[in-house]
Amino acid sequence: MKSVFFGAVSATALIASAVHAEPQAEVLHWWTSGGEAKSVAVLQEEFASKGGTWTDMPVAGGGGDAAMTALRARVLSGNAPTAVQLKGPAIQEWYEEGVLADISSVAEAQNWADVLPASIAGHMKCEGSWCAAPVNVHRVDWIWANADVLEANGIEMPTTWDEFNAAAEKLEAAGVIPLAHGGQAWQDATVFEAVALGILGPDGFRKAFVDLDMDTLKSDEMKAVFDQMRTMRGYVDDNFSGRDWNLATAMVMNGEAAFQIMGDWAKGEFMAAGKVPGEDFLCASVPGDGFLYNVDSFAMFDVDGDDKKAGQELLAELIVGPNFQKVFNLNKGSIPARTDVSLEEFDSCAHLSAKDMSESSDNDSLLPSYAHGMALRGAQSGAITDVVTAHFNSDMSSEEAVNMLADAVANSM
Ligand code: GAL
Repeated sequence: MKSVFFGAVSATALIASAVHAEPQAEVLHWWTSGGEAKSVAVLQEEFASKGGTWTDMPVAGGGGDAAMTALRARVLSGNAPTAVQLKGPAIQEWYEEGVLADISSVAEAQNWADVLPASIAGHMKCEGSWCAAPVNVHRVDWIWANADVLEANGIEMPTTWDEFNAAAEKLEAAGVIPLAHGGQAWQDATVFEAVALGILGPDGFRKAFVDLDMDTLKSDEMKAVFDQMRTMRGYVDDNFSGRDWNLATAMVMNGEAAFQIMGDWAKGEFMAAGKVPGEDFLCASVPGDGFLYNVDSFAMFDVDGDDKKAGQELLAELIVGPNFQKVFNLNKGSIPARTDVSLEEFDSCAHLSAKDMSESSDNDSLLPSYAHGMALRGAQSGAITDVVTAHFNSDMSSEEAVNMLADAVANSM
């Protein structure tokens, strides 16, 4: 009798909690630098203002390698976080493991198909259903510069790699570190793909890092990419090993270094420090055509509990909502993933990004970043990055590097 009575009470309580479940979310991300933290706070605040309880799970480490290791451990122990910063083909890889939640109901209610460009929507879908929510479009192929340092040395933003090298030589002679760089594999890969886009051109980049075409990977043009990497190794300071990307950005900010080649999350750092684009710092796309995109997104993991499910729905709804897309991206350095958000309040670098993105989309030179997990699955991109880093940190010849690159890619398939 007693147990029947308690059974009835708990059933009622359960129904009540399903209807009024308070949204909960444990969110795994790697946004821990100044600009990044300011940006993710926008989502936390919106979530809290709608009654949600946010449990933060930040895993420091630019590019997200450490965050992805933490994610694997959590999923393997059967305790996945509610929402995870995840992008590109990794979304599909996790979907294939059968651990992602379907967020199609939110996507359909909000008409994501109408407000997102098809190229971005494609990354957010798993066998036709929506499995991730995009927050932005970061551009990877940028050069950032300290405006005063360039002016004091009579240097313009370079428009060819030869100009870049000439400027670097001049800066070095003047006692300025030409290139601020952090020796971490993902940062080496970021510089490498920017150089590769410039030297191989958009078609060559696609053949190499999307199609994994062996002839292109071993080509003379690819050797030229490694030659330029070798030259650039000479432009970084002695303490570059292991340095975090935002510390490299700070070197440009304070005039210790002139340039950084980094995605526009670097702009988030400049802005968080109160620097003004066009005055304190300059942005330009790297020499050459094309646009390398890196779309951050969140995937929801299959978890139990109405409160967590409510949290996932609320998060997905907020992330693609127009207000979040504007405010977050003003802080993050990126541009909105939605095409219907006004860029009026955005700066000149963001305007350039939007214009170049639309032109590249029209002329087929809009390309996924390999270094930021948009182009390839983990095994292939990891194989390429290992070679890039091994070359950058040794005296390996370009000839050896391209052979090693082709072998590594072949072995990863
Ligand atoms: C990228 C990510 C950006 C930025 C950067 C440095 O992979 O897409 O949002 O945070 O890493 O951490």
